[in-house]
Amino acid sequence: MLSVKHLIDTYSLTADDITQILDTAASFESVNNRAIKKVPALRGRTIVNLFLEPSTRTKSSFELAEKRLSADSLSMGGSTSSVVKGESLADTIQTIDAMNVDMFICRAKLAGTPQKITENTDAVVINAGDGKHQHPTQAMLDLYTIRKNFGHLDGLKVAIVGDLAHSRVCGSLAPALKTMGADVTLVGPPTFQVDDPDWFGCPQTASLDEVIEDMDVVYMLRVQLERMEGAAIPSRREYNRLYGLDMKRVSRMKDDAIICHPGPMNRGMEINADVADCARSRILDQVNAGVLTRMAEMYLLLGGENNAVSA
Ligand code: CP
Repeated sequence: MLSVKHLIDTYSLTADDITQILDTAASFESVNNRAIKKVPALRGRTIVNLFLEPSTRTKSSFELAEKRLSADSLSMGGSTSSVVKGESLADTIQTIDAMNVDMFICRAKLAGTPQKITENTDAVVINAGDGKHQHPTQAMLDLYTIRKNFGHLDGLKVAIVGDLAHSRVCGSLAPALKTMGADVTLVGPPTFQVDDPDWFGCPQTASLDEVIEDMDVVYMLRVQLERMEGAAIPSRREYNRLYGLDMKRVSRMKDDAIICHPGPMNRGMEINADVADCARSRILDQVNAGVLTRMAEMYLLLGGENNAVSA
């Protein structure tokens, strides 16, 4: 069992919680690799996918994870629900809750929306990304990918690079990595840096070139062009010159160092196309881990413990 009822953020998770999620996800590898990709672990449980902001990876991997665990699920979007008629979030949640559902998965533009849902239902809530706040299920798939590559997380040196201030991915990944004993360095232009100089004990620098040779993982963040709110941003070309991951920078990385990116990518801005597709890139491994870790999170939060594969 996890120590939390809901998965809203990563800083509430203990190392034991994270290890349980990663180990359970690993146990689901065999399910995902067989011809019949289904176990009855969540048979009879009802899960609502409430995606109020666009998503490709998170939404599709939750939906696949639900099918692979035999849960009953329904997917709602902002534009296809009575939200467009002005129904409040609280009324929407209470309405769906009255149908006796077990879990809400929520993606929202407004930070705090998943927390607000917990106040209007007894069902379990998973945050699938809320504004600039948190994206905890992204962090779990990132940790899974990194742990699978190196066999461990403790002691690894990870640079999270780019648009730190607007990134819910950074806000989730950095504390989760720290909890698991990794060293995290934040790299970004001064206007994209986080305000707190001791944010989760992560040093910050404006120079990727000064740190890249020491890193085991170079995690490139998407520039959140939709969340700038008037912040000064360099041109695409200037950003790419100073902070973009190109083959020249990749050639200075340690021999076994890897590259991650949460997607969707701005190819040619934070990451060059040949880098995204190179042998060090783990970007599609991250996508694959998204199904496994989301299966694990839903399974553990709905009361599963061991024997998930044969349940
Ligand atoms: N990484 C991520 O959350 O991607 P989507 O917005 O496509 O879900």
